[in-house]
Amino acid sequence: MIDDQKRILVTGGAGFIGSHLCGRLLADGHDVLCVDNFYTGTKRNMLPFLDNPFFELLRHDITFPLFVEVDEIYNLACPASPIHYQNDPVQTTKVNVHGAINMLGLAKRLKSKILQASTSEIYGDPTVNPQPETYKGSVNPIGPRSCYDEGKRCAETLFFDYHRQHQVKIKVARIFNTYGPRMHPNDGRVVSNFIVQSLRCEPLTIYGNGFQTRSFCYVDDLVDGLIREMNTPDYFTGPLNLGNPTESTILELAELILNLTGSKSGIQYNTLPQDDPRQRQPDITLAKQVLEWEPTVPLQEGLQKTIDYFDDLLREGIDKYNSRWQMPKMKVVAINDSIKSVGPYPETQPSTLIPPA
Ligand SMILES: NC(=O)c1ccc[n+]([C@@H]2O[C@H](COP(=O)([O-])OP(=O)(O)OC[C@H]3O[C@@H](n4cnc5c(N)ncnc54)[C@H](O)[C@@H]3O)[C@@H](O)[C@H]2O)c1
Repeated sequence: MIDDQKRILVTGGAGFIGSHLCGRLLADGHDVLCVDNFYTGTKRNMLPFLDNPFFELLRHDITFPLFVEVDEIYNLACPASPIHYQNDPVQTTKVNVHGAINMLGLAKRLKSKILQASTSEIYGDPTVNPQPETYKGSVNPIGPRSCYDEGKRCAETLFFDYHRQHQVKIKVARIFNTYGPRMHPNDGRVVSNFIVQSLRCEPLTIYGNGFQTRSFCYVDDLVDGLIREMNTPDYFTGPLNLGNPTESTILELAELILNLTGSKSGIQYNTLPQDDPRQRQPDITLAKQVLEWEPTVPLQEGLQKTIDYFDDLLREGIDKYNSRWQMPKMKVVAINDSIKSVGPYPETQPSTLIPPA
């Protein structure tokens, strides 16, 4: 046991990022309580920790109050991919708003530090690139993505109001695209899509000519950034961008994955929809200054680890642990890491005085 062992609560700890965070905190010698309702997380992600006496797993929905004793809270509970968060948009807003209120209330009572896993989505469809933390964003409040974008924005508001009004020690991290083992195989994101397609020898679907760029942060780098932010002095609240500013084209990503998997899959080009969202790229100047942090894992290395994970998962059978990820009623069109037309709720236009034809 380390001298400064802390009791740390990770909400959403059974998910992709949360499970890596739990693993790193346990490895650092802390006592970890993972709270999750398994909406998108799985017990499979918890298997490496179940024998560790310093690890506890509690099934709980954070939209309901929670009474536990801890020193620090990482609030990650929230479905993160459009397929998942649009499946039940009202619940998505609830987990962001009610969940944040419950966790902030807990931090207030315990006088503990609390870190919010916010997102680059709070910048919406940005008019500034790359995005610094000072950019206020351009978000549609009534679209199908709003439950997530506006939910996360409201959570940030709550964090800063609890800080101003109740002196709660807050940290806000704005996480950009992250990838790695334990990603969901069916979340419609470009990294998981390309890897699963390659391993299944299915054509990799690229929308447009593939020259559009994206940037991806390996999960170990991201987790390191979250822990560093939690350990900043109390006066530092964020918001702080955490992500990888290195860009690659979608075509480069596809070719790299084909190369690494040795797959004979071809590439299938589909038409890029007119309103494909513009790129998002983090400005991490502040993280470099405050945390002395920047991503270190090269894309090729991170992808290899992710491919190995998906290879194992496909051999085991994806559906064995992840049956609730099969959401057959959803109508989903994946556009290289952005999701369009996700049902069952159609896009709503603002009303006008002209009745629909
Ligand atoms: N993965 C990314 O690229 C990314 C980017 C930006 C922000 N984030 C944020 O990081 C956090 C973790 O994302 P992730 O990719 O690991 O997603 P994930 O879906 O794998 O993990 C979210 C976890 O929260 C749990 N959860 C959902 N609702 C809950 C509730 N009401 N009560 C308790 N647990 C609940 C899920 O079961 C899951 O285990 C999220 O808050 C997400 O918004 C992720």
